[in-house]
Amino acid sequence: MDMIENVLLQRSSVRSYDNTKKIPQKDMDTILRAIQQSPTYISGQQYSVIVIDDEQKKKDMFEWTTGRSGEGQQHILDCSAFLLFLIDFNKISRISAYENMPLEITNYMEGLFIGTVDVGIGAEAATVCAESLGYGTVAIGAVRRCVKEIIQGYNLPKYTFPLLGLCIGYPKEHLGPKPRLAMNTFAHYNEYKLHDFEKAIEEENKAISVYYGNDEGDQAWSRFVASFYEKGYWKNLSSLYKEQGFDIK
Ligand SMILES: Cc1cc2nc3c(=O)[nH]c(=O)nc-3n(C[C@H](O)[C@H](O)[C@H](O)COP(=O)(O)O)c2cc1C
Repeated sequence: MDMIENVLLQRSSVRSYDNTKKIPQKDMDTILRAIQQSPTYISGQQYSVIVIDDEQKKKDMFEWTTGRSGEGQQHILDCSAFLLFLIDFNKISRISAYENMPLEITNYMEGLFIGTVDVGIGAEAATVCAESLGYGTVAIGAVRRCVKEIIQGYNLPKYTFPLLGLCIGYPKEHLGPKPRLAMNTFAHYNEYKLHDFEKAIEEENKAISVYYGNDEGDQAWSRFVASFYEKGYWKNLSSLYKEQGFDIK
């Protein structure tokens, strides 16, 4: 019960870390075991993790993930370990070769979905485990900004794809739980029905403004979300899937 109250329900992303400390190997082993014991589609384990705790390698990741604005993600430098999650059908291709069988699922969206879900579930296991051990975490989707650099920098073979990062470190501050949209806009019983969603947007805008100590009247949250998805971004990704062997039909 303590774990639910103190870890799951209090969790928030941590972006400020004491960068002077290392994670003891025993704790990292526990986190890796927790990831590995997560549910995985058909027991196939279509994912892998690279633990990056080398200072130069974290610096490379910081630089690669920095966008055109030049504003980098300092937490990538300051965390103690950066877990890089990969979709990994390279191992599946070895199993197929071992069984002398072709591999075709990598040519379908289904292959990418399988790997993506495996990575997502594994990343959540890492988050819960690391937070339970007293560390802070933040997921890093910006690794998809620099897929090419990561593939080259880590010599990633065909049928792998870097999908998500996770910073783990010693938290300097916890912002506390960030407000979410009203429960009835997200959880549905036996049907899908959005009740009064515009009101829920207004409430979320207000709650997030209060959370960040801004003017309660602003629409910063809905404006941010809508602007983020206004146009496509990282448009080179589909050609990179192809280069990595995911020739999606
Ligand atoms: C797939 C994914 C990618 C994310 N990428 C980033 C990122 O690149 N940088 C960052 O600072 N936070 C990132 N986050 C963290 C979200 O911004 C954060 O979870 C969200 O604002 C909700 O806040 P909370 O985690 O504190 O509840 C990511 C989260 C997810 C699930």
